[in-house]
Amino acid sequence: MGDAEHRFGNPPAMKEPILVLGAGGHGRALISLLRDLGAHSVVGVVDAAPGVAPPLGVPVLGTEAVLPALRRQGVALACIAIGDNGARLAAAARFLALGFTLPPLLHPSVIVGGGAVAEEGAVALPRAVLGAGARLGRLAILNTGAILEHDSVLGEAAHAGPGAVLPGGVRVGARALIGAGAACRPYVAIGEGAVVGVGAAVTEDVARGATVGGVPARPLAARPG
Ligand SMILES: CC(C)(COP(=O)(O)OP(=O)(O)OC[C@H]1O[C@@H](n2cnc3c(N)ncnc32)[C@H](O)[C@@H]1OP(=O)(O)O)[C@@H](O)C(=O)NCCC(=O)NCCS
Repeated sequence: MGDAEHRFGNPPAMKEPILVLGAGGHGRALISLLRDLGAHSVVGVVDAAPGVAPPLGVPVLGTEAVLPALRRQGVALACIAIGDNGARLAAAARFLALGFTLPPLLHPSVIVGGGAVAEEGAVALPRAVLGAGARLGRLAILNTGAILEHDSVLGEAAHAGPGAVLPGGVRVGARALIGAGAACRPYVAIGEGAVVGVGAAVTEDVARGATVGGVPARPLAARPG
């Protein structure tokens, strides 16, 4: 297991400063996670929108223009609280280029099976399940109550929404979105960048870039324009 992967151990005694990118809903979810985890002190939030309100009372330090100064002041850890998968990936590249480390963050209530792995910048929100041998890819989000069962893989910057159920051996490609409450048959493969709609039941593989929904899941018509 590399340095960027989660060791599932106890938090260190001294609280490490960490910065959050994004003052929106996912930003507040990650600030809550960090407070519950208790291993870090949240030094502030950076957001592209000037004048945004402090989320949960955490000061907004400015736009990404402040990042080099924060690095010089010794802030080394960051988390990317952006829900959009492509935007999260792009932001992570900017932070890594400046020398920030993006630790995986698992809420203390997450159930973790033997041999499970969470990669750089991956996040698991309260009551998610990471089954035995499952892999939470770098920058992936396993949202509240979502289940990534044994030997399943949530790919790079993919997102399993609240309550999504990915049973054994499911493979979700990079940047795919599994909507809230959607469920899959075991061992199906969901292609890169695919979208599975809220509440869908996925019974067969989903092609790269496809959008599917319904029970059983079928391609949804593309919107005009
Ligand atoms: C599938 C989804 C991406 C479609 O969004 P959209 O492109 O904005 O599409 P629209 O809302 O315009 O709907 C297009 C059509 O698909 C249907 N549709 C939308 N979502 C659907 C779903 N989950 N299941 C079945 N049909 C769905 C709509 O009823 C509409 O049908 P119509 O053309 O007959 O009226 C979206 O509805 C969805 O489920 N997103 C997942 C969100 C989520 O859970 N995120 C987790 C964040 S925490």
